[in-house]
Amino acid sequence: MLNALTIDDLKRQARRRVPKMFFDYADSGAWTESTYQANESDFSKIKLRQRVLVDMTNRSLASTMIGQPVTMPVAIAPTGLTGMQHADGEILAAEAAEAFGVPFTLSTMSICSIEDVALHTRKPFWFQLYVMKDRDFINNLIDRAKAAKCSALVLTLDLQILGQRHKDIRNGLSAPPKFTLKHILQMATRPQWCMGMANTQRRSFGNIVGHAKNVSDLSSLSSWTAEQFDPKLSWKDVAWIKERWGGKLILKGILDEDDARAAADSGADAIIVSNHGGRQLDGAPSSISMLPRIVAAVGDRIEVHMDGGIRSGQDVLKAVALGAKGTYIGRPFLYGLGAGGREGVTRALDIIYKEMDVTMALCGKRLLSDVDQSILLDNPYAA
Ligand code: FNR
Repeated sequence: MLNALTIDDLKRQARRRVPKMFFDYADSGAWTESTYQANESDFSKIKLRQRVLVDMTNRSLASTMIGQPVTMPVAIAPTGLTGMQHADGEILAAEAAEAFGVPFTLSTMSICSIEDVALHTRKPFWFQLYVMKDRDFINNLIDRAKAAKCSALVLTLDLQILGQRHKDIRNGLSAPPKFTLKHILQMATRPQWCMGMANTQRRSFGNIVGHAKNVSDLSSLSSWTAEQFDPKLSWKDVAWIKERWGGKLILKGILDEDDARAAADSGADAIIVSNHGGRQLDGAPSSISMLPRIVAAVGDRIEVHMDGGIRSGQDVLKAVALGAKGTYIGRPFLYGLGAGGREGVTRALDIIYKEMDVTMALCGKRLLSDVDQSILLDNPYAA
């Protein structure tokens, strides 16, 4: 782990350790992957302003997201099949996030269940909800998240139908995974990863198995999942979910000003400017390029968060400078997890923290609350 100085180092280590099918699942975007790539590359078009002879002592990156204190404004994004990057991956990542003082978001499509993660954490985590056609199932998930004392519901809106990733099709990845002889042989070359595999398989899709109607085994689970995403999802559904949940609500997958206004009207606590890490609409703009105009449209009415393409502490600071109250990392924590389990996730958070701290100082700021557009030379994505 100590060899990993950047998120890219963790990615290289994960590529060596995680079976190809699962590494590719994380490291892929929809179709031509143009949005996936733009999410990362558009950060480099924003230039930081170097300042000198400013008091840089007593710095702090501490902040809040939806009123909850965070060591730095970086949450762990919800990712499906996380337990396939490393056995018990969701539990390990939640433990690392808790120790670091940042929010962990558990995906509906996780391997470990809400209850598994609750058993291994002391502080509340966040739960991400996909809206399925089976509303009893949704009600049940909301009730389970409440019972586990989750402190926010992250409602994902940009997956009414599934985007397509060529790599997954070529690798024969299904959800949940069905293993062919080729996959098993490939895993055999990664002994450490295989050790926990049996355990992970036992938990397969812990939030769903045993709770969804007509799902009795892995095969029926696979078909159920594929046809359950709700193409008719509407703002009315957001309203009843908000009411049933009754706690902090974050709407994920907003990339358009009109949708952002509707989200602010819905009474949610925050939105996440996001294109699902480039995994849904290929050809959509990068999240960072849309952030300023969404902040201009609704920033005075609702907390604006963003995700997509963050690979360094500099990226986080740029997002904060452009108005994000919080950010999320998906692949960076998955690479850490694949590279070294809990320690790898901690490493990913540590890398981002240290980069943020030094960058903020060299931009002449001591406190995160002082970071604004003045740390940028200009804003190529001005509203
Ligand atoms: C995701 N994402 C996602 N989002 C969500 O709301 N529920 C989910 O189950 C998943 N699953 C998922 C799996 C994998 C492997 C990835 C990479 C992403 C999207 C995720 O929450 C987030 O929006 C992006 O990952 C952010 O982009 P970066 O940080 O990965 O560039």
